[in-house]
Amino acid sequence: MHISTTTWMLAACLGTVINASDVLEVNLVFPRNETYAPNDTFPVVFAFKNSELARHLNPSISYSLWNEVDNSADILWHELSWVNWTAQETYFAYRYSGTFSTEGRWRVLWTLGWNRCNVESPEYGNGVISTSNTSSTVFTTSNSAPKLDPVAATANKTCTGQPGVAINVTDKTKSVSSALWEGGKYTNHTCAVVAASPTPSTNPCRTQIDETALASMEASSWASYCDSNFNEPAECSDKKSSAQPLAVAGLSCLLGLTGALGFFLV
Ligand SMILES: *[C@@H]1O[C@H](CO)[C@@H](O)[C@H](O)[C@H]1NC(C)=O
Ligand SMILES: *[C@@H]1O[C@H](CO)[C@@H](O)[C@H](O)[C@H]1NC(C)=O
Ligand SMILES: *[C@@H]1O[C@H](CO)[C@@H](O)[C@H](O)[C@H]1NC(C)=O
Ligand SMILES: *[C@@H]1O[C@H](CO)[C@@H](O)[C@H](O)[C@H]1NC(C)=O
Ligand SMILES: *[C@@H]1O[C@H](CO)[C@@H](O)[C@H](O)[C@H]1NC(C)=O
Ligand SMILES: *[C@@H]1O[C@H](CO)[C@@H](O)[C@H](O)[C@H]1NC(C)=O
Ligand SMILES: *[C@@H]1O[C@H](CO)[C@@H](O)[C@H](O)[C@H]1NC(C)=O
Repeated sequence: MHISTTTWMLAACLGTVINASDVLEVNLVFPRNETYAPNDTFPVVFAFKNSELARHLNPSISYSLWNEVDNSADILWHELSWVNWTAQETYFAYRYSGTFSTEGRWRVLWTLGWNRCNVESPEYGNGVISTSNTSSTVFTTSNSAPKLDPVAATANKTCTGQPGVAINVTDKTKSVSSALWEGGKYTNHTCAVVAASPTPSTNPCRTQIDETALASMEASSWASYCDSNFNEPAECSDKKSSAQPLAVAGLSCLLGLTGALGFFLV
């Protein structure tokens, strides 16, 4: 297992559109099943579309970045407990990774976990059921590919080989005592009822990383990187002054939501 990967754990708050859809979609939006140039700050981006539907589901994401050639992996996760799910239509959970800095073949293997009300057999258990779904995307890095550009790379709304998870969240909820449920403190002690089959389909490629989203991610990653270094690296003053407005907006949003924003060395 590599332990040298430098990553930033981040989350963006973008947009405030209210959407009436009943389906929460969780997708890996970047990388796709394609070929990119290697890069030592390579973003791995998950999106929660219609994110307000996640507020009673206590979701979590854990994932590994597999090197398919030598079978090593970096294990990562996103701390989502303190996310304000109602603050934006699409919530991005992302990290800049140093793993994909050389040519290779890679797999992002990710597991989404969530909790829902137990309506099938409420007489058993604690009233909530934990569920998870594991998906993976394979991609390659090659020096012959054009320079990494997540905006251009997610511009096409049609793509293949990109799995996602769709959860049909009903408007029915139940109150569950916190003593019975670890997730209670993050969900106002409320679980959501999820509709039984059929599972709605997903369209991971419909979520784009646009210039605004990318700028916000980059600025937030610089801000948290610089803030977490007591001896501010030389490049920070430059980056900070050019990225100030976004970094400040991104950070105040983030700090309000997550309470703890850190620089992670994984
Ligand atoms: C890495 O990707 C970023 C865009 O995400 C780009 O600006 C940078 O130039 C790339 N680095 C290299 C060495 O290609
Ligand atoms: C979450 O975001 C919404 C919309 O921006 C806001 O009204 C609400 O106060 C926020 N909740 C918390 C706990 O910060
Ligand atoms: C988008 O992707 C589809 C299928 O992967 C392909 O047929 C189409 O040509 C692509 N469009 C553009 C503009 O690259
Ligand atoms: C990913 O892309 C490769 C090469 O284009 C292709 O052979 C493979 O079938 C794709 N994987 C999926 C799951 O579509
Ligand atoms: C979980 O993943 C499987 C395949 O990996 C898929 O068939 C199923 O629909 C997924 N469940 C949800 C809720 O998305
Ligand atoms: C929390 O749940 C209670 C009922 O259990 C409800 O009255 C209250 O509005 C909820 N608060 C939020 C912020 O959703
Ligand atoms: C979600 O579930 C509800 C209730 O079972 C159903 O009416 C609705 O059509 C479902 N939505 C999708 C997109 O499957």
